[in-house]
Amino acid sequence: MENFNLNINGQNMEVSAEEDMPLLWVIRDLLSMKGTKFGCGQALCGACTVLIDGEAMRSCSLPVSAVGDQKITTIEGLSENGDHPLQQAWVSHVVPQCGYCQTGQIMNAAALLGRNPNPSDAEIESAMAGNLCRCGTYNRIKAAIKTAASNL
Ligand code: FES
Ligand code: FES
Repeated sequence: MENFNLNINGQNMEVSAEEDMPLLWVIRDLLSMKGTKFGCGQALCGACTVLIDGEAMRSCSLPVSAVGDQKITTIEGLSENGDHPLQQAWVSHVVPQCGYCQTGQIMNAAALLGRNPNPSDAEIESAMAGNLCRCGTYNRIKAAIKTAASNL
């Protein structure tokens, strides 16, 4: 076991973990932040997406020892009151169905808008292609990202 000082949602959090423990396990099981979801565990679905220094990363496949002092943002830290433009757009478009994939969808969309605040349809489709939704909410996700981009 090693001690790690993580910067999560603007706070320093110390955890004791094996160095190869996936960041997702740390977030959910050690820190009890349950907003980030476990889907496949193999970097295939995107449910576990968090931001690392603003870049979308799959936390199920990222060892905690690889994070260092980079800034981690989870869905809990995307906004103080759940009012990030993406979260507002998700509500207004009634995007989720079962909801399971939606944390990852929103975090991946946040990374997209962070690097490209006015993405085209093709850019949205390309950026979001790896985040799977078994409920097929893809059209609403795209519409919500366009609405959020117009409200940034
Ligand atoms: S749970 Fe991480 S990509 Fe599926
Ligand atoms: S809303 Fe059910 S998996 Fe996406």
